[in-house]
Amino acid sequence: MKKFVAPSLLSADFACLEKDIEMINQSQAGWFHIDVMDGVFVPNISFGPPVIKHIKKIAQKPLDVHLMIINPDRYFEVFKEAGADILTIHYEASPHLHRSVSAIKNLGMKAGVVLNPHTSVALLENIIIDVDLILLMSVNPGFGGQKFIENTYYKIFQLKEMIEKRNPDCLIEIDGGVDTINAAKLYQAGADVLVAGNSIFTSNNPIETIKLLSY
Ligand code: DX5
Ligand code: ZN
Repeated sequence: MKKFVAPSLLSADFACLEKDIEMINQSQAGWFHIDVMDGVFVPNISFGPPVIKHIKKIAQKPLDVHLMIINPDRYFEVFKEAGADILTIHYEASPHLHRSVSAIKNLGMKAGVVLNPHTSVALLENIIIDVDLILLMSVNPGFGGQKFIENTYYKIFQLKEMIEKRNPDCLIEIDGGVDTINAAKLYQAGADVLVAGNSIFTSNNPIETIKLLSY
């Protein structure tokens, strides 16, 4: 019931964002995935709260905001005001993760924690009961259109086991290199939400591709 695709706007046409947002509104997608990059935590810069504020005006589905920035806590309130429904922060950028997750929830948003491909799932053991979702990066963060890292399946199995024991309501989200070929296998492995940018926005029929990527 809770499995669906979250298109990443990083691969959308920034000059015609409204058109792509409307397309996602009409599609089977569950959330909008929004990638915020600071050029420090990751080697790329994308966009920030002012753009999200405009997206929020036309988006008819929750905004899943993935922060690839250092010191994310400084901006929680700003992202809440911009319209974020789910705020996901990197384990690698958060030395006081429990405090950060609590702050996000206290602002009325769902809280997620992201792991880079090399970061072990075992490190989540003492935060898993506090989060609404875990996002596993299946590419190194920073760019769309990269190749899916196969070790992600192993991490999904490990995470699924932890979640079933400790926090069955926690969602597993996968981000990077998701396409119509690996989507079914990812859902089967235990993923609940699949982020997809390149595979949707380079296809001739994005609505149909979202359908193919849906559970
Ligand atoms: C990468 C971003 C992803 C990216 C996924 O750093 O977090 O959300 O947009 O793009 P694709 O689906 O093209 O790999
Ligand atoms: Zn992302």
